[in-house]
Amino acid sequence: MKDNFAHRAAEWDSPEKTKMTEIFVAEMLRHIDPQPHWKALEIGAGTGLVGLQIADKVGHIVFEDTSAAMLDVLKQKMDEDSNSETLHGEVYDYQQQDIDLAFACMALHHVPDIEKTLHHLAGITNAGATVVIGDLRLEDGSFHRFEPIPHQGFDTDILTEQFREAGFEVQTAHTYHVLSRERVEGVITDFEQFILVAKKR
Ligand SMILES: C[S@@+](CC[C@H](N)C(=O)[O-])C[C@H]1O[C@@H](n2cnc3c(N)ncnc32)[C@H](O)[C@@H]1O
Repeated sequence: MKDNFAHRAAEWDSPEKTKMTEIFVAEMLRHIDPQPHWKALEIGAGTGLVGLQIADKVGHIVFEDTSAAMLDVLKQKMDEDSNSETLHGEVYDYQQQDIDLAFACMALHHVPDIEKTLHHLAGITNAGATVVIGDLRLEDGSFHRFEPIPHQGFDTDILTEQFREAGFEVQTAHTYHVLSRERVEGVITDFEQFILVAKKR
């Protein structure tokens, strides 16, 4: 399994990344009310900056990621007796149907096959489960200009339709934050981040 984040893992937990995940979690918690009996799955969990903010609100949480290096950083932050586990692999490697909440922050654009992923999510979630995605709206490619990635952000109308076809009702898909970045020297570009909240039918 290719680990495109191996060289970034040790430095990932910067104040900037922490702030970005806090903004995402605050928006997520405006739309969902995690319950102590819920089992949660974070896709592309990385070093756990998002999921660790949710962990004490749910019964159990699985942190899934294709990067062993990112998960190694996360493991150093996990309590031994915590309600959490890591899954080194793709989302397809999770195969029980018992998830009440699945979420991904800035990870879905790294996942090649969105339709396959959403159908898999439909297969591993309980009826009424919630899926929350935080990611970039369509961008001009400058956000990841030094690394090839499967998706240069998302058109949320298309993503909404893909969720519907996989068996979910989308409750909201809206911009919650704008990242201003100097990806090209001397040019500040605004990258819109959206949150999409879906419920399994
Ligand atoms: C931009 S980072 C975001 C990490 C974390 N969600 C955060 O907000 O700090 C993207 C993460 O997705 C992971 N990733 C890349 N491709 C993946 C895939 N196909 N399945 C699951 N995770 C993947 C990467 O290893 C990386 O940890």
